[in-house]
Amino acid sequence: MTTTYELALGSLLLTGGTVLGSDGPVLADVLIENGIITAIGQGLNAPDAEVLDVEGCTVGPGFVDLHTHLREPGKEQAETIETGTRAAALGGFTAVVAMPNTDPVLDSAFVVRAVLGLGATAMAEVAVAGAITVGRNGQELAPMAELSKLGVMLFTDDGTGVQNGGVARRALDYCRGLGATYAEHCEDLGIAAGGVVHEGYWSSKLGLPGQPASAEEAMVARDLLLAGELGARLHLLHLSTEGSVDLVRRAKAAGIKVTAEAAPHHFTLTDASIASFDAVYKVNPPLRPAHHGDAVVAGLLDGTIDAIATDHAPHTPETKDLPFDEAPPGMLGLETAFSLSYERLVLGEGLAMEGLFDLLSTNPARIAGLDAQSDRPFGQSEHGGRVTVGRTANVVVIDPRAAWTVEGSSLASLAQNTPYEGRKLQGVVRHTILRGEVVVRNGEPTR
Ligand code: NCD
Repeated sequence: MTTTYELALGSLLLTGGTVLGSDGPVLADVLIENGIITAIGQGLNAPDAEVLDVEGCTVGPGFVDLHTHLREPGKEQAETIETGTRAAALGGFTAVVAMPNTDPVLDSAFVVRAVLGLGATAMAEVAVAGAITVGRNGQELAPMAELSKLGVMLFTDDGTGVQNGGVARRALDYCRGLGATYAEHCEDLGIAAGGVVHEGYWSSKLGLPGQPASAEEAMVARDLLLAGELGARLHLLHLSTEGSVDLVRRAKAAGIKVTAEAAPHHFTLTDASIASFDAVYKVNPPLRPAHHGDAVVAGLLDGTIDAIATDHAPHTPETKDLPFDEAPPGMLGLETAFSLSYERLVLGEGLAMEGLFDLLSTNPARIAGLDAQSDRPFGQSEHGGRVTVGRTANVVVIDPRAAWTVEGSSLASLAQNTPYEGRKLQGVVRHTILRGEVVVRNGEPTR
């Protein structure tokens, strides 16, 4: 299926920013006409264009989130495609991959088509990850070939790992045949044994059931073995332990076709937060001691982990206010991902801004099949890469000098379950441009 997108008419001139171009950052203006970047240079003149003065800001490719829970269909009280993509645009994302753990599950052509249809006019482009198994039941394979014909490039039972190694092996083999990627939520439920937090000091002290790091690592190891044996492409979702990072590092060195993502909460929070017993800190995989977050950061810096993904998981206050062990896991992420990553990786570790854009835009665009080189079989425009003439204008403008304070009630998400309430963050998303349309102007959504 091809959803043909529309390019915004009219012209837009971004003046005086630092542009992440093909030869590195340059001080330049960027002219966008009818949705396409048509000129980059100093002192550009376009009398009819809307002018945005972006002096002091970075102009880069819009971010791409590999892991967004849009909750539609089924949990529209927590988020919808409209509100979730508005949050995405405010966070600087021009494309998101919608996770399939909806109700009904994204395991049939009918539901996938419906989500793509609603996404076609959204404030960020929507790609879909299809379920691996029917109803995410872990047993019977979903009609992967049919979903692949619609353009599904990633398959996952996210929310649950595929527990049966035989089913995982068969699905990996199917994905290989279809040219798709098998994406795993790594959690061995037998080892996790119902643990709702990381097993360690805080779980013991607070008397909350813990799950050990090995619950994640055992499935990472299994899937790496299977992917290596089959020559299949594997993507590992929300990696959170030192051992997982180490396994992926070794697998990459051995030539296994694996990519991995990490979520900002795993490298900016620790399990000490759960001492509040506030379920806003409950998430899967659980928050862990700082050395795990440090290992994730090392993995992001040395290329072991390819992408930062939000795992944006909205939940209503009614469910998040339940006692810790009963509340659902998950936290908001779209609107805070850039600032958190900028603070930790650029300000904290000295990563170049371009490196951060690789993690938030170029690499996830490639993994999702949304980059210029891919077929983009849903018909989306190209994402990631560098800001160059001739490309579709999917662009974000960042102001690294500005700071903001997180307020759950001011976020665009329907849900408010941010673990960063009241926290002052450095780095602001000023403008987001989707196919030439300014969808966020000065930090405000335009629709
Ligand atoms: C996600 C959700 O709420 O759908 N929750 C979470 O804690 N991460 C599921 C998932 O991504 O595992």
